[in-house]
Amino acid sequence: MRKVFVRVFFLFYLGTWATTARSDIVISRVDRRIDLTSHFVRVLSTLKVENAGRNVVSEILLAIPNMQAKNLANLKAFYNEGKGKGSAINLPVSEVYPEGMPHELTFHTLSLTEGLEKGKSLSVNVLTIFTHSLQPFPEEISQADAQLVVYQDSAYYLSPYVVKSQSLNVLLPGGRVESYTKHPSGKLVDSEIKYGPYEKLPPFSYSAIVIHFENNNPFVVAQELVREIEISHWGSIQVTEHYNLAHKGATNKGGFSRLDYQSRSYMGGRSSLRQLIARLPPRAHSIYYRDDIGNISTSHLWGDSRKTQLEIEPRFPIFGGWRTSFTIGYGLPLQDFLFISEGNRFLNITFGCPMDEVVIDNLIVKVVLPEGSKEVSVLVPFHTKQWHETKYSHLDLIGRPVIVLKKTNVVPEHNTYFQVHYKFNNLSLHREPLLLISGFFFLFVACIAYMHADLSISKFSASYIAKLQWDEVQATVQRIQNVIKRCLSAHEKLETSLQDLSRTGDFQSCKATRKLADGLFKELSKELKPLLCFLQSSPQAAQILPKLDAGKESGK
Ligand SMILES: *[C@@H]1O[C@H](CO)[C@@H](O)[C@H](O)[C@H]1NC(C)=O
Ligand SMILES: *[C@@H]1O[C@H](CO)[C@@H](O)[C@H](O)[C@H]1NC(C)=O
Repeated sequence: MRKVFVRVFFLFYLGTWATTARSDIVISRVDRRIDLTSHFVRVLSTLKVENAGRNVVSEILLAIPNMQAKNLANLKAFYNEGKGKGSAINLPVSEVYPEGMPHELTFHTLSLTEGLEKGKSLSVNVLTIFTHSLQPFPEEISQADAQLVVYQDSAYYLSPYVVKSQSLNVLLPGGRVESYTKHPSGKLVDSEIKYGPYEKLPPFSYSAIVIHFENNNPFVVAQELVREIEISHWGSIQVTEHYNLAHKGATNKGGFSRLDYQSRSYMGGRSSLRQLIARLPPRAHSIYYRDDIGNISTSHLWGDSRKTQLEIEPRFPIFGGWRTSFTIGYGLPLQDFLFISEGNRFLNITFGCPMDEVVIDNLIVKVVLPEGSKEVSVLVPFHTKQWHETKYSHLDLIGRPVIVLKKTNVVPEHNTYFQVHYKFNNLSLHREPLLLISGFFFLFVACIAYMHADLSISKFSASYIAKLQWDEVQATVQRIQNVIKRCLSAHEKLETSLQDLSRTGDFQSCKATRKLADGLFKELSKELKPLLCFLQSSPQAAQILPKLDAGKESGK
């Protein structure tokens, strides 16, 4: 195990730099507190800075080893106004590259706006937050194991200045402490390791410490989070967040047993991710939580006038090395986040992830403005990469302006408000409804025109006439068939009367029947004549005429 530690150790010899360090400033006291209770490393240092030189000092340098600086997510310096608990005032911080300093270190400078006069001192708090700085060791654990991690730092406050007096407290989450560096003067009290006090150390003093301890927090890392904030001037802001999460703690080995997980909770995945709590703004509505498969119903929602909380439970617990991706979405009332100042509109909304304890490697925030917005500008309290895009949805003609902000290594402290200012002409607001109304209007007009046109054309169209003619032909054929039927029945009657004559010899009645039949035949042939004439004149009847002639022959 020690061997592994040695591999990741970084030690550098800085003694030679001590002589070149600036001497105007002396740090009379440093109290450092490193909080390792989560999977973030939060270091709060309280420095008492003294101007021991003859000139006014306007900046203070902070040194961070490059190994740590690459994981630096946030650096904030502030002091309390007046004595005691005044309001905190932030000091501007920027990265600098002073000459003649060791290359193993990254420097930041705190600007003192009013300057520090000779002989005066100032108390400054510096909060630094590091991600990905706790290394799981061992790297693989089984479901029943606790997660152990290693943290490395220096027992001394690394500074380009002389430090007269200092102490360090390291706060652990509780549970087992495998080992910790005891030299110089480290001691474990409850869940806290205390180093110091150390007196009068030269600039760049460094003494490596390694702490190996139990930390069962799920190391939730969003490798990518895309937040889309879409403004509709019709009363709502729609927020959609696509998460791509991984558990970056010790990887799970030997598979997953749901039986152990559920029945023996002390056995099961102490460091697994079971749930996340999203703190949404009050009056959030239409909240959903879904993944590729569909809606996830194992989420709970509760809230009051100050907040809305969404408890998210993944479909399965996420162990080290596992991933999950899902989407949450919600609507927000427009009047809570969109304001008007000097004729311009501005959105004032939070930047980061609504869930605590999530490290975001890549955060992309897209603000979709209403179509027709102009002169867009963004105010974010930290550095982000920015560019513009255009989004098209229904009824968009020129598309909606989208401002995209990208930031890497985002921690909960970045979940602060940012503003997007833009100009918007109210006429544009009515463009879409007008578009809809005029669209429907033209649709109806077109429909009416079409119906009318269709009727008037069809009355005279060739096909319509042909159909009428064909109907007439059919009716005529029907009538001819009737005539033939009546003719046939008259024949039948005549025949029966002839048979009666041969049996009874009643000549009179037979004669009467014959007379009746002759009259009927004459009448029928009169009726038939115009019908046949019509058929002969009609071009459509040409093909059926021969059949009719045949029928007529047989009828005779
Ligand atoms: C998912 O949930 C949303 C919001 O509750 C609902 O509108 C939608 O119909 C649901 N979809 C399915 C497939 O259940
Ligand atoms: C944005 O909103 C927050 C919370 O309501 C408020 O504290 C802050 O002052 C607002 N910022 C601006 C620029 O209006």
